[in-house]
Amino acid sequence: MTIQIAPSILSADFCNLERDLKAISNADLVHVDVMDHHFVPNLTLGEPIVARICQVTDLPVDVHLMIEDPDRWAPEYAKLGAASVSFHMGATHAPVRLARQLRDMGCKACFAVRPAEPVEPIFDILDEFDMILIMTVEPGFGGQKFLDNQMAKVRRLRDEITRRGLKTKIQVDGGVSPKTAHIVAEAGADVLVAGSAVYGAESPAEAIDSIRDKAEAAFRA
Ligand code: DX5
Ligand code: ZN
Repeated sequence: MTIQIAPSILSADFCNLERDLKAISNADLVHVDVMDHHFVPNLTLGEPIVARICQVTDLPVDVHLMIEDPDRWAPEYAKLGAASVSFHMGATHAPVRLARQLRDMGCKACFAVRPAEPVEPIFDILDEFDMILIMTVEPGFGGQKFLDNQMAKVRRLRDEITRRGLKTKIQVDGGVSPKTAHIVAEAGADVLVAGSAVYGAESPAEAIDSIRDKAEAAFRA
């Protein structure tokens, strides 16, 4: 059993990104939230900054696209060196085609589901994806309250993955902290994104260890 911790740089200092990337060297991935002011009501960063992050960090870069038309843009992030790219159910037109394109480029393909979206429609195409991202807040902002009503969805997805013997990872994003890590891990999530809980802590590295410890103690495979 391996739990992976993916700090979200949405809560980092954008004027000191290199310093803040070094502060999370004990993480497993670095989660980069790309928002376009259309799919979500916030605007963050795009290709030039993701390109530099890929050059500067030793961690695999996990790009979370909260943008319209990921079918057009996701492959560009794979080209820049992203290890994984997540795109949203509510934004893509051809998820299987896009997932295959990303995988052909050597990039992991991840499908993201918002709180009001069901996970069952993905079951028939589950093996096309390396990871499913279950949002535990409405996408757009860091520091929101964790939605524990999403845990039934995580459980149903974990059961389906286990039943079919798949290796698909379950990522949970939003409101994850040392206080909620055991809840998501007990439901079956194995990749935990945390923004404000990591960068809002005095020591980001200690916050990562604390989230990991709590999750590992509770994880159900
Ligand atoms: C929100 C983003 C998250 C965000 C999480 O739309 O997808 O990755 O950074 O932030 P916290 O951990 O503060 O909820
Ligand atoms: Zn995210």
